[in-house]
Amino acid sequence: MLETASVVKVQQENPMVLSLTLHAPEIAAAARPGQFVMLKSLETFDPLLRRPFSIMDVDKENGDIFILLKVVGLGTALLNNLQETDEISLLGPLGNGFDLDVDAETVHLVGGGTGITPLYFLAKELRAQGKKVVAMFGFESVTALLHAEEFSMLGCSVRIATMDGSMGCPGSIYLLVKREFENGNLKYLYACGPNSLLREVDKYAAAHEIPGQVCLESKMVCGIGACKVCTCALAGKDGKRASVCKDGPVFAIGEVEIDG
Ligand SMILES: Cc1cc2nc3c(=O)[nH]c(=O)nc-3n(C[C@H](O)[C@H](O)[C@H](O)COP(=O)(O)OP(=O)(O)OC[C@H]3O[C@@H](n4cnc5c(N)ncnc54)[C@H](O)[C@@H]3O)c2cc1C
Ligand code: FES
Repeated sequence: MLETASVVKVQQENPMVLSLTLHAPEIAAAARPGQFVMLKSLETFDPLLRRPFSIMDVDKENGDIFILLKVVGLGTALLNNLQETDEISLLGPLGNGFDLDVDAETVHLVGGGTGITPLYFLAKELRAQGKKVVAMFGFESVTALLHAEEFSMLGCSVRIATMDGSMGCPGSIYLLVKREFENGNLKYLYACGPNSLLREVDKYAAAHEIPGQVCLESKMVCGIGACKVCTCALAGKDGKRASVCKDGPVFAIGEVEIDG
């Protein structure tokens, strides 16, 4: 659905990342973890400047959704100018979302950078089901650390890795994934983050028969399966492709070939 949302709150998380609270009651009522919205500033008439963002959380009672936005280029720079009380155009909720019906008492979340956003909404629902949740997050450095403490407040056990070693385990979060598996703790995983990380995690999990789901953040234009900009190859399906926006963004471990 297309909804004009009002900006309730803008908060700068670090110089490149801001969090937005948007009043969008229809989208908030329908949203599920792993789904996303396409956002467009009403300041521009350019239809190509709609950009995808995961729904980090919803407040169904007040009709609000929460987004975490990292500025990387033209579209996100325009959104970075948003002020409280501005209005913004939202298309969503889009995509399939995570499957929450999994047969494991403990699940692991693996997130890198802004890839932790859909995992928060997911963690909330999994904790409400009574599951134990281990959240493993990787960042470039402690200065880029985002919202990890909010996962602790949900009752998740949180592990951090930083590439520069400024906090937690030094190096890639992938090392923590391997360690958890080697210790016999990893039974089911959900992952979201840059393609380079997801490709490694997906390959490792598939090779070791660890079931789970990956949430891809491919480049998108339409968000509804029409333009084919976001497609990825289905593994072992003779060149058949899936639209990340419509068939995903969540896929089972080993289901798709992850580029990048
Ligand atoms: C389903 C989904 C959920 C997402 N959730 C979030 C989120 O919660 N928070 C968030 O900050 N971002 C998220 N993204 C990524 C976000 O959509 C892009 O960063 C944004 O579209 C970039 O727009 P831009 O015009 O600023 O950048 P552009 O000017 O289009 O590109 C600037 C640079 O960023 C690179 N880039 C653009 N899009 C992507 C991408 N999807 N992945 C990797 N590199 C990219 C380009 O290659 C280029 O180098 C999500 C993407 C998808 C598909
Ligand atoms: S973004 Fe157009 S088909 Fe996915």
